[in-house]
Amino acid sequence: MVKAVIFDLDGVLVTTDELHFAAWKTLAERIGIKNFTRADNARQRGVSRMASLEVVLEKSDREFSDEEKTALAEEKNKMYVESLSALSRSDVLPGAFEFIEYIKSKGIKAAVGSASKNTPLILEKTGLADKFDAVSCGLDTVRSKPDPEVFLTAAKKLGVDPCRCAVIEDSNAGIEAAKAGGMYAVAVGAAEHAPKADISVGSLESLYKAMDIFA
Ligand code: BG6
Ligand code: MG
Repeated sequence: MVKAVIFDLDGVLVTTDELHFAAWKTLAERIGIKNFTRADNARQRGVSRMASLEVVLEKSDREFSDEEKTALAEEKNKMYVESLSALSRSDVLPGAFEFIEYIKSKGIKAAVGSASKNTPLILEKTGLADKFDAVSCGLDTVRSKPDPEVFLTAAKKLGVDPCRCAVIEDSNAGIEAAKAGGMYAVAVGAAEHAPKADISVGSLESLYKAMDIFA
């Protein structure tokens, strides 16, 4: 039986994916990459900031030093964080608040498991900060999804055995990370066709509605 649900953040709880895409595209264009696409952006889902930068730099014909890469990642993050200034409760995806309340009413714990180092800021701005029993994010980990570190850290913080945790993810890397950690993997949205997912649903809202009929 599932004792905890670990939610990915970007693309599962909040709509910040589009803001990541916009900031990466601006950076790509600034360094002469004109053809940075949504398909490229799909490969950035779930992975760390530096791994996401590598997806951009693959499209460049020049080499970048580690110092330049660090500066580019900081440049993108500055643009991204600026775009987060307008973030509010209305950017929480449909069904998220309801689903969290639902699982809590069943005695199931809730946690966040996100690659993003901006997780605390985003949770605060969207009114989600006090909804979770634990938060594990890019600030707590060194390895990027598909490594299970971020989810195993969440399970540890919750005090729940990983095999009693379900992960909700919108990225293939995140689904792989959940399975590598021995967890049940629920794919939503963009991860709907992730081959390793245990189940797939269109959105958190449709998952909540499916639960609600058994309540
Ligand atoms: C993940 C996003 O949640 O966080 C990735 O899906 C992003 O696209 C990663 O690169 C790291 O985010 P941040 O906010 O630390 O740059
Ligand atoms: Mg995500």
